[in-house]
Amino acid sequence: MPSVRHTILSLATLLSLFTSAVAQTAYANDFVDPDHFLTKNLGNHTYAAQTTAAAWAKTLAAKGPWSVINKSATPPSGDKHDFMSWAPYWWPDCSNAGNTTALTPEQTWVTCTYVNRDGQFNPDVRLVNNVGDFQDFAEAVFYNAIAWAMDVDNKATFEANVVKFINAYFLDSATAMNPNLNFAQMQRGPTGQVGSRTGVLDLKAMSKVASAVLILRKGKSAAWTADIDNRFIEWSKEYITWLENAELAIEEKESNNNHGTFYFNQLAALKLIVNDAPGAKAVIDEYFNGIYLAQISANGEQPLEAARTRPYHYRAYNLAAMITNARLSIYADPSSTVWNKTTTAGATIKTALDFAMTIPATTSGEANYVEELYPNIAAVASVYGDADGKLLSFLKKGDPKFIAQPYMLWNQPFAELETSGLPPTNTAKAHAAPSTSKSKSSVTPDATSDATGLRVGSGWLVTVVTCTLALAVNVLGSL
Ligand SMILES: *[C@@H]1O[C@H](CO)[C@@H](O)[C@H](O)[C@H]1NC(C)=O
Ligand SMILES: *[C@@H]1O[C@H](CO)[C@@H](O)[C@H](O)[C@H]1NC(C)=O
Ligand SMILES: *[C@@H]1O[C@H](CO)[C@@H](O)[C@H](O)[C@H]1NC(C)=O
Ligand SMILES: *[C@@H]1O[C@H](CO)[C@@H](O)[C@H](O)[C@H]1NC(C)=O
Repeated sequence: MPSVRHTILSLATLLSLFTSAVAQTAYANDFVDPDHFLTKNLGNHTYAAQTTAAAWAKTLAAKGPWSVINKSATPPSGDKHDFMSWAPYWWPDCSNAGNTTALTPEQTWVTCTYVNRDGQFNPDVRLVNNVGDFQDFAEAVFYNAIAWAMDVDNKATFEANVVKFINAYFLDSATAMNPNLNFAQMQRGPTGQVGSRTGVLDLKAMSKVASAVLILRKGKSAAWTADIDNRFIEWSKEYITWLENAELAIEEKESNNNHGTFYFNQLAALKLIVNDAPGAKAVIDEYFNGIYLAQISANGEQPLEAARTRPYHYRAYNLAAMITNARLSIYADPSSTVWNKTTTAGATIKTALDFAMTIPATTSGEANYVEELYPNIAAVASVYGDADGKLLSFLKKGDPKFIAQPYMLWNQPFAELETSGLPPTNTAKAHAAPSTSKSKSSVTPDATSDATGLRVGSGWLVTVVTCTLALAVNVLGSL
């Protein structure tokens, strides 16, 4: 009797898990070893995460393609192919510019003095959305590559999406971005017609783009042709030259907080895109032997992030960048020991995570940012283990639907005993982990696909809910 009641409760939990899908969101940053997906060794507990990732791939793809030329203002160079963004907290003070109502917006942008009002968002920044577009682009490319590798129905659509988006963003001469960030985070006004060093952060998600490219390249996607590969390598080489030599980029590299950490994410990811693993390793070594050493105190606090206006957010944000650097290092050189690398004060990435977990987001009025820490918790658990179950219980309490988050796909092993629903129909064979052997079937066409396979999105959710209800009714009937 108690066990039947328990079953009903579990079914109710399952039902609540699937009646509302997990909303699409962008994790601060990450890098995923392509073999994680290409070896087809995802466990049963990742079923819900597989479904979410494939649903996000579709939602995101519907928003593309993206191009830097999509902006209603022109950079100071006169070339819309230059990436541009405006620093969000800077406002015009036109008191020295005559009658302000007579100025057009274009005149205001170059004539008036711009002043910083920290935390107050200037809404005209939305006229130029190269930053938001790049973020959506990077997410779309990342999840479409993952959906392709997971053998979701019509997998050819997903690889084609990645190629279409990368082609439009970087390669097609009509829409391509020039390989520089000379006009990122411009302050505007007479002295602000150049980018700021902080604008280099705008392309931090290059590590997600690199993850996608490596998945298609290593998985031998038919759509990822040698021509696309070569042209993207050429583009990346030019942009690496900018990142290693431009004054703005060097200043960003020298910043000692999260800005510096993310700079190394970006540069190392680009080195992997151009097939330079030793170069990527060297870039990450420079981080772990450099600014990392002063980023974590003995108790795990990140003093440079704690000093900011939103300490909870910045701790989580820099942790994501540190974790990404560690993953890039291990991929570039599997013998890398960066997870155990201690700062001058003797702390590791795990020390920083443990400390961040002790300070609730509400302490600094940041309840809206609470979920930012969660992917880092899963990452740390997957690398350092979670022997006492502390990390799992923290995550379960904070986000009862964490098991359906895509980050559960690549932060493994972790939470392997959790239930995550029914298998996505046609991906079950490929993605359950029935044995410990890693079958390398990614390069062959998906023989298990059929017309009635996985329906990502509402169709599949309805199926799950219906099946679950049917099960629940059966159990009730047998009482
Ligand atoms: C994983 O799921 C498959 C298909 O539903 C099932 O046959 C298998 O027993 C499951 N494995 C574990 C370890 O639960
Ligand atoms: C942005 O650019 C792409 C590529 O040229 C184009 O297909 C898309 O329609 C543009 N979007 C907007 C909103 O202008
Ligand atoms: C500014 O110019 C506009 C139109 O040119 C005019 O209507 C307005 O009265 C002027 N304001 C001042 C303060 O001079
Ligand atoms: C840290 O070092 C120890 C001892 O060499 C090793 O057993 C452990 O696996 C390392 N941890 C990580 C996360 O690399």
